[in-house]
Amino acid sequence: MASVVVVGAQWGDEGKGKIVDLLTRYADYVVRFQGGNNAGHTLVVDGRTYIFHIIPSGILYENKTCVIGNGVIIDPGVLLDEIAGLGEQGISVSRRSLLISSNAHLIMPYHRRLDQAREEALARENKIGTTGRGIGPCYMDKVGRVGMKVGDLLDPGLFKDKLQAAVDEKNFILTRQFGGEPLDISSILEQFAGFAEQLAPLIGNVSVELDQARRQGKHILFEGAQGTQLDIDHGTYPFVTSSNTIAGNACIGAGFGPAHISEVIGILKAYTTRVGEGPFPTELPEGDVIGDALQSKGHEYGATTGRRRRCGWFDAVVANDAVRLNGLTGFAVTKLDVLSGLKKLRIATSYEVADTTYRHMPENIRLARLARPVYEEMAGWDTEITAVRAYEDLPSAARDYLRRLEDLTGVAPILVSVGPDREETLLLRNPFAA
Ligand code: IMP
Repeated sequence: MASVVVVGAQWGDEGKGKIVDLLTRYADYVVRFQGGNNAGHTLVVDGRTYIFHIIPSGILYENKTCVIGNGVIIDPGVLLDEIAGLGEQGISVSRRSLLISSNAHLIMPYHRRLDQAREEALARENKIGTTGRGIGPCYMDKVGRVGMKVGDLLDPGLFKDKLQAAVDEKNFILTRQFGGEPLDISSILEQFAGFAEQLAPLIGNVSVELDQARRQGKHILFEGAQGTQLDIDHGTYPFVTSSNTIAGNACIGAGFGPAHISEVIGILKAYTTRVGEGPFPTELPEGDVIGDALQSKGHEYGATTGRRRRCGWFDAVVANDAVRLNGLTGFAVTKLDVLSGLKKLRIATSYEVADTTYRHMPENIRLARLARPVYEEMAGWDTEITAVRAYEDLPSAARDYLRRLEDLTGVAPILVSVGPDREETLLLRNPFAA
């Protein structure tokens, strides 16, 4: 049996969807362990487009169990819409195919309202650029020990008492602090009673089930959302998401022991992108010919919000942070084809801040904003590579580029993606076959 964690090595949107889909073939269980419907990826299978925000895309395969761990936060309306959407495509969701942790927390209507109100109230330069899905306020309530859990849905008395206390507090904040309208508890109770009925058969103990699976020798894939630099503790705080996105949280967010993890794979885009606000040292400004080329050729728009992603050169400082923070055993390099046609490629190897050289992201956000990348240059390649299926058939400059990424990080690619389709992939080493 193997238990493999896959995480984003940059600021999210590294192309995890496709890689997770590929590795899912070898897994029996696919587990999400953090984040909520701020994540999202689009998959095209047999000409049909599927967009996932909460459910692992493994749901498209037969005989796999998808798991939503305790570290995830769930907007039940969005989850049920996703289940209904799958039903319309002929995919029925049952307890055999989807298990939801009773310890996961619920994103409530007031969390969305507070997320949007707080973001609006911030001065322009302090805005986080959140997805507006209620992520921060939901995790705040979890840590503040006043959150609503999925398991509470099964206990109407407990649910009502907890909700009453929460709505009293949130209405005070919404009306007094933000000058908004109060929420009506009876309509929330009615709506959530409906959600409870539909979700009840899918709720269970994720930790117990994954432990049994491991003992039976099953392969388990843990699927991270967002990316390393968006981690609440280790990212470019406060321009981060509100959960731990790094590999260590696979264990906490699913109730799985660290000693049972066999590999950690970092998804690494061949250049860098970021949505939302915050430091991005290798960013190319909007209007820059190369930045715009990466943006349009790489279709760099967010799957969840449709926002334009900021684009820039590959950053080995960010990649090395990911190696260290996640304990990476391999990279899956994505979107290498997007670089085809560029005469010269740049790689940031360190940052200069005032007179100091940094080989990791400065922890101080003011310094992180001032970081000036130190670049090295490499030759690019002219030919398109999407049709290439063997590593040796890549142009020599593309192989040099990959080798340089490996030299700079000490971690080798296990997979290289040369186009959006499943087949447009070079699998160099299968972590489930180790
Ligand atoms: P939140 O997670 O909605 O609170 O947003 C906080 C920050 O994380 C913002 O900069 C978002 O753009 C970013 N973010 C959240 N989810 C994702 C994701 O899945 N991909 C990339 N960025 C994300």
